[in-house]
Parts: sequence; structure tokens; C-alpha cells
Amino acid sequence: MSTAKPEVKRGVLRTKSVEQSIADTDEPEYQLKKSLTALDLTVFGIGVIIGAGIFTLTGRAAATLAGPSIAISFVVSAVCCALAALCYAEFASTVPVSGSAYTFSYASLGEIIAWIIGWDLLLELLLGASVVAQGWSQYAVVFMNALGINWPSAIGPGGGVDLLAILLIAVLTLLITVGIKESMRVNLVLVGIKLFIVLFVIFAGLFYINPANYSPFIPPATGGGEAASSWLTQPLIQFAFGLEPTAYGVGGIFAGAALVFFAYIGFDVVATTAEEAKNPQRDLPIGIIASLIICTILYCAVALVITGMVKYDQIDPKAALASAFTAVGKPGFATLIAAGAVAGLTTVVLTLLIGASRVMFAMSRDHLMPPGLSKVHSKFKTPYVITIGIGILAALVAGLTPIGKLEEMVNIGTLTAFILVSIGIIVLRRTRPDLPRAFKVPLVPFLPILSAVICFYLTINLSVETWLRFVIWMVLGFIIYFSYGYRKARLATGETLAQMGHTEGSKL
Ligand code: ALA
Repeated sequence: MSTAKPEVKRGVLRTKSVEQSIADTDEPEYQLKKSLTALDLTVFGIGVIIGAGIFTLTGRAAATLAGPSIAISFVVSAVCCALAALCYAEFASTVPVSGSAYTFSYASLGEIIAWIIGWDLLLELLLGASVVAQGWSQYAVVFMNALGINWPSAIGPGGGVDLLAILLIAVLTLLITVGIKESMRVNLVLVGIKLFIVLFVIFAGLFYINPANYSPFIPPATGGGEAASSWLTQPLIQFAFGLEPTAYGVGGIFAGAALVFFAYIGFDVVATTAEEAKNPQRDLPIGIIASLIICTILYCAVALVITGMVKYDQIDPKAALASAFTAVGKPGFATLIAAGAVAGLTTVVLTLLIGASRVMFAMSRDHLMPPGLSKVHSKFKTPYVITIGIGILAALVAGLTPIGKLEEMVNIGTLTAFILVSIGIIVLRRTRPDLPRAFKVPLVPFLPILSAVICFYLTINLSVETWLRFVIWMVLGFIIYFSYGYRKARLATGETLAQMGHTEGSKL
């Protein structure tokens, strides 16, 4: 057991040393099995990344924002993610501790920034789980219809209460609570199904492409569309510069990129498995970057196929991939795709729920949140309080919020975390040049700065209402930090985990 005792530090910019973070994970009750290889990590990454983004959002983004040029949006978003992925890879190879960006920033940028990132990650993972659950229920309805089951629309996606999404989250929360850890084998099967379906869409769809649908590839900017319905739904950048609200055109490509960014979220979650990797210094960068490259190629191909099969203004914004095949007279294919989506999206929700618990667990372990939250169940050895709490919140959000309102919130939270992680790379290079870095971002500080700038540019392409909601979320976070975490943090009190009675093992 580690005997390292955290020193008492003052001020909101106090940092938890890299050594202390690593020492905490040596506490036997927090030790996780180190078994994952580079291939496991890549599979895990693809398992989290491919989800509602490609299965549902692509259709909406193409139909309402970018038309066929949504394929370009995917490239823009991929460039943004690739730069951030390099930064994540360097951090993960330097500070191989779970908790992802939250832990990295506690070591480099100081406590308040770590808090902001942790708070953003909760937004990403918790709301992300809700959004993907909503996407799951949309495909579940398509699948049930094909089987002749008519699910009442009032308790389905887009109805008053989305009971299907609530049920999914309830079942998955139960699984995580009793400790059925996402086994890599189950994950492998589900990732296999998902990859098969995506490749099926690409190759089967190729035969139904009508080149006329690509023209115009970048539809001319129009005054209509989602953005024009109110100033609240306009991208912030258009609103701030007093521009006429538009859809499509070049602006539509960037607004589309800011929306489909959701489809890439998840490669950063690979970093949360740092403590379970056999050789994190080498394998985490491989897992993060390989999963991102594979998904980028698949996404661009799917975007080109779907917009080639159906004229962009007729694309179904809900279950676009399946509906495209119904539209070309292949309902059997549509059913297969819907079934694959139902299986594939389940693992995304599961992993995001686990990720949310993990981040909250790390924050509670540092006492930035009440330590009672991370109480471990005596029989199941899982942090059941956090897990159930997160499950209830995610279920309520998924069940009661209208579809299409939350994705942007997830994106703004994630992009903010990316910005801070990129800056953190530059800071940690200066403050701790001595640390061994198995993977290094090239061209520092140029690339991390570029990463932060592109991420910021995407955030200002999100809507005004998203920004307003985000500001409210952040204010809430600051209130909690200053009224609780600032005084109670282990860095403020100097308590060790053992002194705090963290003696039960956790199998989170
Ligand atoms: N990238 C994940 C998805 O698209 C969150 O569902």
C-alpha cells in the first residue's frame, strides 16, 4: 500500500502531483487488473465511438444543415478530434491513471480546472448515455414495427415519455451495479455486429447511389432551416456577428461538423482505462489513434452513401440508415440494420454509464465530491450509490427531454474538456519536463494550440441556447466547488485514503 501522504495545499490552482495520482492507484482497494492490449483498447474505442452519432445524427445533420457536404463536416470534425487525440495520447502515456482528462488536469493545470473538466466530463458521459439511449429507442421502434409490434408512440421516442429509453438505462444500471463488468468478449461480439452493419450500409448502399443526389454537393445557403426558427437556435457565431440565420452553404458545413462531432466522442474514454492496460505507455496512444482513424474512414463512407441514396432534403432525420434502405425498396435490409443498431447502441450506453461513474468516483476519491458517494457495496463491491444515482439521472433525462436537444450539450462539454487538455500538454511540458513521456505530441506548442483553437471554433458554431444551457451548468458547478470541494478536497485537508476509511475494495 502506498504511504504517500498528500501535502496540504492552498488556492484554487493547487495541483495533485503525478506521483500522488499514481500512488493512489497503488492502494490495493483501487487496484484494477492490468490485462488490456493495444487491440483490446482499439476494439473498446470503436465500441464506444460508433453509436447514435452515425446511426441517427448523420441523417439530421445532412437533412437540416449540410446536405451531401456532411461528408466534409465529418472530415473537419475528425481533424479536430485527431489533434485532441494526440494530446490525450501524450497525457495517457505520462499519467496512466484512470479518470481521464480530469486526472491529467489535476496534475497540470490545478484543481479548479480539474473540477471544470470533471464537471464537463459528467455532462459528456451522462448526457451522452441519455442521447444514445434515445437513438436506441428510435431504432428499437423501427425493429419492432418490422416484427409487427406496434409500440405506442406516446411512450416511445418523441412521445411524452420515452419509456423504451428509460427501460434500457434501468436494465444497464442494474447490470453495472451488481458488477457485471463489461466483458471484453461480449464487447467484441457487439463491436463485430456494429462494424458488420456499418460495412453493410456502405457496400449494399453503393448499388443504390444516384449521382444526381450529390448535386449540389454544398447546397446554397438558405434563410430557412432549423437555425432560422429563433435566435436561440442560431449558431453563436452567426448571432454574435449579427448575421442572417442560414442553413447549408459553407456555414452549414461547420455547423454540421459541430453537430456530428458527437459521432467521434468516445476515443477519449479509452484513456479512462489507463489503469487496466498492460502497457499503457505504448498501447493507449495506439488504441486512441487507431480507433479514431478507423471510425473516420467509416463515417465519411457512410455519409457519402446515405446522401447518394436519398436526396438530402428527404433523408429521415430519425433512423436515417435504416430508412434509406426502405426508401430504395429494401425493407428487409432496413430491418437488419435496425436490429444491428439496437445491439450496437446498447454497448455505447453501457460504456458511457460506466465512464460517468468512473469520473465521479475519481472526483469523490479526491473529496471534491462527498466521499460517501463512492461508498462500495459490501456484497457486489461496486460503488452502488454513484452508479444508481447516475442511472436515475440519465434515465430521467433520456425519458423526458425532447429528441435532438441534448447532443449539442454533450458536444460543448466535450469540446471544452479537449481545449483544456490541449493547453494542459503545454503546461505540463513546462512544469514537469522530467516526466517520462512514451508518446509525445509533435510540434509543441503549435499543434496543441491549433487543437484548442479548432475546438473553440466548433463550440461557437453551436447554438445560442446550447451556450446558455452550458453557462447555467458551469455556474452550478462553480457553486458546488466553492461551497464544498474547495474546503473538503484531500489536497486541502492532507488526508490519505486510508485515514478516510476507504477500506472496501471496488470493482468499478
Ligand atoms: N460517439 C458516440 C455515439 O455516436 C457517443 O453514439
